[in-house]
Amino acid sequence: MRKKVDFLVIGSGIAGLSYALKVADYGKVCIVTKSNAEETATKYAQGGIAAVMYTPDTYEKHIRDTITAGDNLCKREIVEIAITESTDRVKELIEWGTNFDKKESGRYDLAKEGGHSEYRVLHHKDNTGLEIERALINQAKKHPDIKILENHFTIDIITQHHLGIEVNKNSENINCYGAYVLNPTSKKIDTILSKLTLIATGGAGNVYSTTTNPDIATGDGIAMVYRAKGKIENMEFVQFHPTSLYNPLEKPSFLITEALRGFGAILKTIKEKEFMQKYDKRGSLASRDIVARAIDNELKLSGEDHVCLDCRHLDNNALINEFPGIYAKCLSIGIDITKEMIPIVPAAHYLCGGIKVDEYGRSSVKNLFATGECASTGLHGANRLASNSLLESAVFSHRASLDSIGKIKSIEFCNEIPDWDASGTVLNEEMILVTQSLKELQLIMSNYVGIVRSDLRLKRALDRLEIIYRENEKLYEKSILTVKICELRNLINVAYLIIKMAMHRKESRGLHYSLDYPKAIYNNS
Ligand code: FAD
Ligand code: SIN
Repeated sequence: MRKKVDFLVIGSGIAGLSYALKVADYGKVCIVTKSNAEETATKYAQGGIAAVMYTPDTYEKHIRDTITAGDNLCKREIVEIAITESTDRVKELIEWGTNFDKKESGRYDLAKEGGHSEYRVLHHKDNTGLEIERALINQAKKHPDIKILENHFTIDIITQHHLGIEVNKNSENINCYGAYVLNPTSKKIDTILSKLTLIATGGAGNVYSTTTNPDIATGDGIAMVYRAKGKIENMEFVQFHPTSLYNPLEKPSFLITEALRGFGAILKTIKEKEFMQKYDKRGSLASRDIVARAIDNELKLSGEDHVCLDCRHLDNNALINEFPGIYAKCLSIGIDITKEMIPIVPAAHYLCGGIKVDEYGRSSVKNLFATGECASTGLHGANRLASNSLLESAVFSHRASLDSIGKIKSIEFCNEIPDWDASGTVLNEEMILVTQSLKELQLIMSNYVGIVRSDLRLKRALDRLEIIYRENEKLYEKSILTVKICELRNLINVAYLIIKMAMHRKESRGLHYSLDYPKAIYNNS
């Protein structure tokens, strides 16, 4: 089947939806999303969205905190854009129907998370993302010019490569003409031609065995752009959230929001000893890279499989009222957080790098934008400040929409694009091959490319990945395509990019910590 749309949006999280809502007044929008529309990382966001709302907070303080967390690798001009536009974007989310918690005074109830010097995180209980996703989906479903195609999996973006023109990574003017999308009803691959395309496919946490990310986070957009020879950067900076619930058989890992530490919860060993002051004078509220590394170190020293978060000293009623989701979840596995410590471990959580974009979300491929977690704007540098990613998605989707609206009238469809060539695909994949390769890949990444790395571990990871890559490419070429085999292929691409970029970084910086380039894990100066 062939379709034509002015704006093709791949992804229905905050990045895709907020862009779609803005461009829909200027042309037809098609949102393609691989699961049901709500199933996004956005929906699982707990802590909230960071924005400067009231004094004593200032843009300058939020800018400083962002750059400090990013270990001085952030692009200052991008940080300034994101932070100074934060207040307007939050107001827009509110106008679209998002409810953020307020105090009795009528002012927003701002929370504090690791690395923030002020209270500035707007939230809705401990399920902020669900509330934002609800409001945005509601608006999108009401808009007459937005069509949402659920359970449609995008395989690749279309470029002149599909016209038989050779494209390599040094090519100028690679152009995006739309995407090939697996139709769940016909099981065939549709051609969706577009004038402008936005990739908003989110993160890639499933490249690791333990992650807070939902199943959809398989780095598809990043892999697509990489295969199309677009520019990808900063992939070595994978953020591990320090506090996911230790419940080994559960996937994805349930997040215990950092806002709980902002509320006063304290990290302790299972023997009830505080340890964070040893590593950073900010204690349990040090930035995430430092806390995750400290926990990793404590676990190596003690040989235990988790540490704990202690809430027992906190006001019980306030605790349950502010964090009802966490209270209920822990109770469901037999832990009353008002009486017992919560067992926690770090889990892969957020990808700071991705598709390289400029201040308007423009990728290196013409007519292709990328926003949200799949994009690398330079805001996060070597480590993201908590709750800056929902903000980044809103700000750069807005800016991408401005650029898109300005140019849509001057762009024509490329009608010569051929349909997907499925000839030569004869095999129905053997699921066991795909699931085993996926498990192997996740173990390689968790064991050798996790919180602490070394040159030797990275080399070992690359050698093993190459075997999986070769096996999977053979299988892919012959198989009738399915979501699972495509996701595995994308995760292999993403793993390759993480390892290669980690190998190139000959220093320990932010989230990339290598034993070969020592840097004190203690930060108490
Ligand atoms: P997502 O919301 O993940 O949406 C991606 C979309 O792309 C989905 O609709 C998916 O189906 C679609 N998609 C992907 N691949 C394809 C494909 N091949 N074809 C078609 N569709 C595709 N950040 C904060 O700022 N504050 C927080 O409090 C916070 N808490 C978090 C808690 C958890 C548990 C997690 C996992 C993340 C949290 N984050 C938080 C990070 C934040 O939620 C994400 O970075 C952000 O929501 C990403 O939004 P997005 O729109 O880029 O991607
Ligand atoms: C959390 O609530 O701890 C997650 C916040 C984030 O990832 O920004």
